[in-house]
Amino acid sequence: MKDTAAKLSHVSVSLHWLVGLAIIGMLALGIYMDENEAYELYDLHKSIGVVILPIAMLRVYWRLVNRWPLALSDDGVALRFIAHLVHWILILATLLMPISGAVMSAVGGHGLPLFGLELIAENPDPANPGQALAYSEAIAGFAHETHEIVANLVIVVLLLHIAGAVKHHVINKDGTLRRMLGREV
Ligand code: HEM
Ligand code: HEM
Repeated sequence: MKDTAAKLSHVSVSLHWLVGLAIIGMLALGIYMDENEAYELYDLHKSIGVVILPIAMLRVYWRLVNRWPLALSDDGVALRFIAHLVHWILILATLLMPISGAVMSAVGGHGLPLFGLELIAENPDPANPGQALAYSEAIAGFAHETHEIVANLVIVVLLLHIAGAVKHHVINKDGTLRRMLGREV
């Protein structure tokens, strides 16, 4: 059940790909709906994000209990530091993205939906029908900034992360990628 140097548990592998691919999909959906003002997609984006949060919390708990996977190649201090920093940024972002999104929506007066359910209701502005009234513009604005900045940071470090996975597979020819696909190395 627990991770070993030779084999990662099914839980670790499943959580990595489930949360990882969901985050990649949400980055694409978020950028698409934002750039195209596709407001009909907002509730879908929010609902998927709300579902991701508890799974990401479980993933962080599981990773801390299991410690980080041991390196299979000796990459030197600098590269190992970068890889480790990238892992920390990515895993923290799996919490920060849904939390900042939920806070920006709920505190911004737009409510918090979950596939048709209303977890937190909208706060309509009586003076401006059809508009939402923020409970706290400052907190909603801060959460919005966080959502955008962390999204951009994730895109950059994710490219490093994927480059690292390819490097280990193609250049080092060690089992780093295969181990994350559930194989024994
Ligand atoms: C196509 C995309 C991806 C590939 C090919 C990939 C590949 C890998 C590989 C091979 C490892 C093992 C590294 C090691 O043993 O040291 C790993 C670990 C990790 N990856 Fe990814 N990954 C991808 C996407 C993501 C995404 C989107 C996230 C987070 C948002 C993420 C977060 C992590 C974290 C935190 C670890 C550390 C081990 C763990 O917690 O499971 N990865 N990834
Ligand atoms: C789970 C991970 C999530 C990821 C990776 C993600 C990613 C993104 C990205 C890349 C954008 C476009 C960047 C921008 O704001 O300019 C965006 C926008 C947005 N996200 Fe998320 N998001 C996530 C979760 C959530 C959640 C849980 C909510 C709300 C409950 C949410 C609400 C929003 C809203 C309202 C926007 C549009 C902001 C605007 O119109 O400027 N997101 N998201």
